[in-house]
Amino acid sequence: MRITIFNGSPHKEQGNTHIMVEAFTAGAEEAGAEVETIFLAGRKINPCIGCLACWFKTPGQCIHRDAMDELLPKITTTDVVGLATPLYVDNVSGIMKNFMDRLIPLVDPHMEPDEHGETRHIRVHDKPQYLLAISNCGFPEQSHFEVLRVLFRRVARNMSCRLLAEFYRGGGPLLSTSNPNLLPFVEQYKMLLHGAGSEMVRNLGLSKETIARLEQPLMPNTDYAEVYRQRINQRFDERLAEAGHL
Ligand SMILES: Cc1cc2nc3c(=O)[nH]c(=O)nc-3n(C[C@H](O)[C@H](O)[C@H](O)COP(=O)(O)O)c2cc1C
Repeated sequence: MRITIFNGSPHKEQGNTHIMVEAFTAGAEEAGAEVETIFLAGRKINPCIGCLACWFKTPGQCIHRDAMDELLPKITTTDVVGLATPLYVDNVSGIMKNFMDRLIPLVDPHMEPDEHGETRHIRVHDKPQYLLAISNCGFPEQSHFEVLRVLFRRVARNMSCRLLAEFYRGGGPLLSTSNPNLLPFVEQYKMLLHGAGSEMVRNLGLSKETIARLEQPLMPNTDYAEVYRQRINQRFDERLAEAGHL
């Protein structure tokens, strides 16, 4: 199985999103998958201007000559397209949305009913068959991914592929903590992601039990969100003081 993960965080290798991607990748590779990660930040990807030249003037080819010339063939030659993004204002990052809009040359403008009787465009390419979603966010609760859960389900339907797995992590900044008291919880979560990466590749999906474990808070405390808020607020005050604002 070939998995190509597009990372839409501006922090690239330094980001919390990448920490999740790395743990997932280690597990997926252990189960035999070939995984490539592509950082979208810093690449020249012009926004779609909606001219539809890619449909009617030069079918399959966008008018922009930029990084998408190299990236679109990666979509059509992989088995799993992974979209990894930080949560930005309850959505994917702008970098990721820009990339997603530019996928439109991959579809035929003609419409057909899907298996639910809902209209979609006719797909030009056989691949990818599967979609994978990875995201983390700054607030501690899993409820902040409400929009992404719907979005990626709809995107999979739009792209005529199956949503193979979703990995969402509230309290994402904890993933890059250096606090020794918190490291065991982070390591435990990374192990969980690692195992889930293997499971996804072996079983073409995740069990209900694995999904439930992935959704647990990073720390077992019942007042986890309050502890998290206090720690983060304290850290923010330190940073503001360092910058001379407090
Ligand atoms: C512009 C912007 C918008 C954000 N919006 C949200 C949000 O709506 N909800 C949330 O929980 N975190 C939000 N965050 C926090 C990020 O999701 C969080 O810092 C995440 O760990 C960043 O991942 P990265 O290190 O891979 O870039 C936002 C951050 C930025 C910079």
